[in-house]
Amino acid sequence: SERTLVLVKPDGVERGLVGEVISRIERKGLKLAAMDLRQVDRKLAEQHYAEHDGKPFFESLLEFITSGPVLAAVVEGPRAISAFRQIAGGTDPVDKAEAGSLRGDYALEVQYNLVHGSDSPESAERELKLWFPDLQA
Ligand code: GTP
Ligand code: MG
Repeated sequence: SERTLVLVKPDGVERGLVGEVISRIERKGLKLAAMDLRQVDRKLAEQHYAEHDGKPFFESLLEFITSGPVLAAVVEGPRAISAFRQIAGGTDPVDKAEAGSLRGDYALEVQYNLVHGSDSPESAERELKLWFPDLQA
């Protein structure tokens, strides 16, 4: 079994889509191991999105992710990392995310794409330490 970090970004929380995201995670058969609604500060945002430092959208992404509460969850199950990426859909909600995915069904613009999911075992390990440092292995 595997663990991944899932975020419902400020757009999703603001639009009342937390329940929808959790519902799809549960329907897929994945389990919630931890969950927390929190305001992201600049430092956490920079660390979380460190791989995008220097890109043209970096500043805008930090502003967005710190703009309102985020639901952070540890999601667990066989192949949880890929399974949640499938539920989320591709990064661009129109060009890449399929209908039936969260982004495909609920988002229009690449920045406001509703959810985050770790993209590899290495990312998951790094992000889980960052967001849930006290979680038991
Ligand atoms: P995350 O799960 O949030 O990491 O999304 P992802 O892995 O599908 O995409 P990626 O890590 O490449 O980009 C991180 C986030 O930056 C995306 O989810 C978008 O919110 C935002 N982003 C990516 N590309 C662009 C872009 O070209 N313009 C803007 N404004 N935002 C972008
Ligand atoms: Mg990513």
